[in-house]
Amino acid sequence: MVKRKTKFVCQECGYESPKWMGKCPGCGTWNKMVEEVEVTGGARKGAFAHSQGGAFISKPAPITTIETVNEPRIQTDLKELNRVLGGGVVKGSLVLIGGDPGIGKSTLLLQVSSQLANKGHQVLYISGEESLRQTKLRAERLSISSDNLLVYAETNLEEINRTIDGVKPAFIIIDSIQTMFHPDVTSAPGSVSQVRECTAELMRIGKTKGIAIFIVGHVTKEGSIAGPRLLEHMVDTVLYFEGERHHTYRILRAVKNRFGSTNEMGIFEMKEFGLEEVENPSEIFLEERSQGAAGSTVVASMEGTRPVLVEIQALIAPTSFGNPRRMATGIDYNRVPLLMAVLEKRVGMLLANQDAYVKVAGGVKLDEPAIDLAIAVSIASSFRDQPTRPTDCVIGEVGLTGEVRRVSRIEQRVQEAAKLGFERVILPVNNLGGWKGPKGVELIGVSSVSEALKAALGR
Ligand code: TYD
Ligand code: MG
Repeated sequence: MVKRKTKFVCQECGYESPKWMGKCPGCGTWNKMVEEVEVTGGARKGAFAHSQGGAFISKPAPITTIETVNEPRIQTDLKELNRVLGGGVVKGSLVLIGGDPGIGKSTLLLQVSSQLANKGHQVLYISGEESLRQTKLRAERLSISSDNLLVYAETNLEEINRTIDGVKPAFIIIDSIQTMFHPDVTSAPGSVSQVRECTAELMRIGKTKGIAIFIVGHVTKEGSIAGPRLLEHMVDTVLYFEGERHHTYRILRAVKNRFGSTNEMGIFEMKEFGLEEVENPSEIFLEERSQGAAGSTVVASMEGTRPVLVEIQALIAPTSFGNPRRMATGIDYNRVPLLMAVLEKRVGMLLANQDAYVKVAGGVKLDEPAIDLAIAVSIASSFRDQPTRPTDCVIGEVGLTGEVRRVSRIEQRVQEAAKLGFERVILPVNNLGGWKGPKGVELIGVSSVSEALKAALGR
């Protein structure tokens, strides 16, 4: 007899309860319990018990006896993707790619599939969202054809598992995890339990058979991957594919990576016939800069291992009534009032009755302290209505006493500025240490914010 039972599952930690609760007893978060219907009777229960433990039978062993092998990596033709993955795709790894609908996840993965197929690897592209014909149409648009690329429209994971045993692919794409279901789990596709169990099953398949699996995950309105947070803990790598729908640039960012750094970002452009890599991101971020405007400063910021030049804009305007407003886009909001307080106290600028808007142009997010000085210079430049020089680049962390502190990887940053034709770099004096810098670039070492303002704005 088939029985229906309602239960509530926490989207953060997967805690299950027979009744709804505002606060999850498992992890303490609020309002994360969602209702799920479980149908029992027809289906076997607990079939997943094997999937978590069984795959990794292991005995304790002295650490000295364990052999290390360098994780073999397979390169795709997209250098940006290889870098974000930490140097290529690791065999047997599970990679989750999240992003808004229509941002280009399927396009990216189909392109990658064909590149891998052209290198002689067997690739199985499983689509639960589009028919085979739709996938073929996309492939034609991208001029893709390879006999090693198998497309497969299926959502039943048991069937998929059987097909994998027959096909023996080296790579699998699951587009998307929210459409997959396992017949042993009775809740609907896309529900917390289905997403969790399907991912566990895919992990088991990938790890035991040495197959690299890419999973597409949809993003909820709040911007996290739909389904339990657990999903992100289970997989090896979590990538987000971001960008504005109305812009053609797309940013691929690692937020978790067991095989590499999480600061890396890859930049692509969505063209008419597929995604193309952007080799020099600094150029696109500076493309629309209006030269000689007040409140605009360029900083060389590190995105992972790569320096990127970005424009920081500030607009300071008198508060018309009430409390002054402070707004920040692309940087930590708290840096703005902090740097304004430093300018007020250490430089004597009267900013208390001014609204301040600070923005990183081009839609990037920066979160390293080396951008402090550029923010401060932008604010001062807008406040005094005095433009900065278009060929200046400003780098440095600012301390609470108004001192400018040393930053990491200064040589790479300066090199990038030199490459794009910047003539002067204002940087922490402690970073200089007898270093002259590349030819054609004047390095100006400063030890305080007021020295930096003197160098950048002339007073
Ligand atoms: P898609 O890969 O389907 O997005 P997702 O899988 O993340 O939902 O991307 C669809 C969008 O990309 C759609 O608006 C059309 C556009 N597009 C191009 O501009 N050029 C192309 O070559 C392709 C295939 C799609
Ligand atoms: Mg898609």
